[in-house]
Amino acid sequence: MDKNSSQAILKGENIIRDFIVERKAIIGTPKKMFRALDDVSFEINEGETVGVVGESGSGKSTLGEILGGLLKYSSGKVFYKSKEIFKMNKEEFHNYRKNVQFIFQDPKGSMNPHFKIRDVVAEPLITLKICSSQEEIDSKVVDMIKKVGLEEDSIDKYPGELSGGQCQRVAIARALIVYPEVIICDEAVSALDVSVQAQILNLLIDLQAQFNISYIFISHDIGVVNYMSDRIIVMNRGEIVETGTAEEVFFYPKEEYTKKLVESSF
Ligand SMILES: Nc1ncnc2c1ncn2[C@@H]1O[C@H](COP(=O)(O)OP(=O)(O)OP(=O)(O)O)[C@@H](O)[C@H]1O
Ligand SMILES: [Mg+2]
Repeated sequence: MDKNSSQAILKGENIIRDFIVERKAIIGTPKKMFRALDDVSFEINEGETVGVVGESGSGKSTLGEILGGLLKYSSGKVFYKSKEIFKMNKEEFHNYRKNVQFIFQDPKGSMNPHFKIRDVVAEPLITLKICSSQEEIDSKVVDMIKKVGLEEDSIDKYPGELSGGQCQRVAIARALIVYPEVIICDEAVSALDVSVQAQILNLLIDLQAQFNISYIFISHDIGVVNYMSDRIIVMNRGEIVETGTAEEVFFYPKEEYTKKLVESSF
C-alpha cells in the first residue's frame, strides 16, 4: 500500500498539555502551570516512520506518551484509526493498547531486574491476555528472541546479565511480541555506543520491512532521525517549528533552530 495515501493509524489534533509546576500553599491562589505541548497536531500512516526531533525539554516524550495513551492531554484529541481514544469501549481500548507499543531509552531501567528475560518479553502477552497457555507464551517468546538476534538461551538470564545493546533487543522483542501496528521509540538508541546504535537501528528497519510497523522515532539527534524517518517534525518549546520529508528537513532546513540541530549532529 502507498504509505501516504492510507488512513492515519494514529493522529493527534491540537494537543495541549499543561503541567502543574508549583502548588501554592494558600488556598485560592492559582497554581503555576507550564505548557509542555502547545497546539500540536500529528499523524502517522501505515508502515511509515515519523521522526520527532528537538532539544531536551521540547516536548518529544510528552507527545509520544500522549499518543500512546500513557499520559492525558489537557485539551485536543487523539485518534487511533479514526476513533477517539477516550471514547473507546473496553475492547477498542484494548486493541489500541495492543497495537501501540513503546521502546524507551533505558531498557534495563524499564525491566524488572528480578524477572528473567523470558518473563520480561512475555509481559505484554500476559497483561493483554493474548495467550491461552504457558506453552504458547514460551514458544512466542523464543521465536521473538531469535527474531531480534539474541541467542535462545538468553531467555533464562536476568537483565543485569546482558549488555545495553542486548537489553535493547529484549525491549524490542517485548514491544514486538504482540505484533503492534505502531512502536513509539523514545530515544531508543541514545544510551548505546555508536556501533551498537547502528545495529539496533538496522534491526528496527529490518523488522519494519517484515511486519509493516510504523515507528514514531523520537530523538534529540537529527542525524539518527534522518536515517530512520520518512517524515520529520521538529519541536521547540512544545511547538512544532518545522515539518517535511526527512530530506527536506535534514538537507534543506528552513528554520534557524533546525539548522542548529543539523550542525550539532555532525
Ligand atoms: N510531570 C511533569 N511535571 C512538570 N513538568 C513536566 C513533567 N513532564 C515533563 N515536564 C516538562 O515538560 C517539558 C517537556 O518535557 P519532555 O520530557 O516531553 O521533553 P523531551 O523533549 O522529551 O526532552 P528530553 O530530550 O530531555 O527527553 C519539559 O520542560 C519538562 O520539564
Ligand atoms: Mg524525552
